[in-house]
Amino acid sequence: MRIESPRYTERFGSVRITDVQRVLELDSGRAKTLPLNENIAVNKVEEDAIKDFEEKMAIIIPIKDEMLKLFEGVISGVPHECTIVVISNSRRKRVDRFKMEKDTLGQYCHFTRRDAVILHQKDPVLGKALGDSGYTDILGEDGLVKNGKAEGMLAATLIASVLNKQYMGFIDADNYFPGSVWEYVKCYAAGFIMSKSPYTMTRILWKYKPKITTGIYFRKYGRVSEITNKHMNNLISSKTGFETEVIKTGNAGEHAMSLKLAEILPFAPGYAVEPQELISLFEGYGGILPGSSPSVTKHGVDVFQIETRNPHLHADKGELHLTEDMLLPGLGTIYHSRLCENETRQQILNELMQQNILKAGEEPPKPNIINPFKNINMEKFTGAIGEYLKTCSALEDQ
Ligand code: GDD
Ligand code: MG
Repeated sequence: MRIESPRYTERFGSVRITDVQRVLELDSGRAKTLPLNENIAVNKVEEDAIKDFEEKMAIIIPIKDEMLKLFEGVISGVPHECTIVVISNSRRKRVDRFKMEKDTLGQYCHFTRRDAVILHQKDPVLGKALGDSGYTDILGEDGLVKNGKAEGMLAATLIASVLNKQYMGFIDADNYFPGSVWEYVKCYAAGFIMSKSPYTMTRILWKYKPKITTGIYFRKYGRVSEITNKHMNNLISSKTGFETEVIKTGNAGEHAMSLKLAEILPFAPGYAVEPQELISLFEGYGGILPGSSPSVTKHGVDVFQIETRNPHLHADKGELHLTEDMLLPGLGTIYHSRLCENETRQQILNELMQQNILKAGEEPPKPNIINPFKNINMEKFTGAIGEYLKTCSALEDQ
């Protein structure tokens, strides 16, 4: 693939955030040595190099009661070398949707000669393995993993680590275009290839996010993302003294990171997970608050933002979902950050009051931070779940 070279990188302590890089060509042909001057503006990322990273990558698909046809399309877009890990929080009573997902995945894996694992988020074996190995922040009082997209993603990341994967890419199950899924994974790999640090993340920006109204309208940004980005940029500007617009992927559900980065990041629950990742980076490694680790200071953290050619079209979950589940908790991560000063706070409150989401005197909710993975005893977790994962293979009943 051909992708724009990184043109501008904003530095915030040890965190390097690269401005948006566009995909220019999905397939850039056979590997050959390029004339030196071509490399200045354009990066040719070779297919073999991408494959090397795909082999080390798990694609984690969180799913909750999505249409099976969409799920099937999504898995068909995941490049063959990646290991698919599906974490489901779908209904099991009356209609066992989880069973239907497992069957769909199993049939697909059978015919495509590949394997995948699928677990239910409420699987008691998973809950017990996490509890016994000391990772209790995502567990409820019943000892099972709590509801929420982040909770599922984090449990699946630990499972992928047991499967020896070093990179995790997240892709939602309600994506309409298998071609977009394929491109996300290529972009994830391209980011990892460009990175100079083992602590690395790629976040996807869509070329268009169409809305179906009377016709089809190709919107550039999602509404929630636009607002989250603005306030996150305000937070950075207030610290550096220079106004910036570098953050374009505050809410990017489609993103990927190295296990090494996942291990040191505090996360937020539910849909606040993506904005919190950036906030956690700024807090932990932005050079303003104390406590950065020497290894991170040495290597730095790379955050790439890559704009795809494919548009992003996913299931519409309604207005209330956007404001209550996403915008409010997302802005809560910025508002309650230890870095956030009064002016940015006030702007967030004004925004939420203007949109009738908050009343005067109310505040966005404070995220219950989930501690980094470094607190888990990985040996114990592997011991507790390693064998069991064989029964979670999609091919088990095939
Ligand atoms: N395992 C699991 N557990 N999956 C869940 C849960 C849960 O409790 N809740 C939702 N999911 C799955 C959905 O089935 C879907 O595949 C994915 O997580 C994203 O959830 P959506 O409800 O479709 O979220 P969205 O489309 O409004 O928002 C997405 O895009 C935003 C902007 O990029 C999410 O990825 C957000 O996190 C993201 O900020
Ligand atoms: Mg969605």
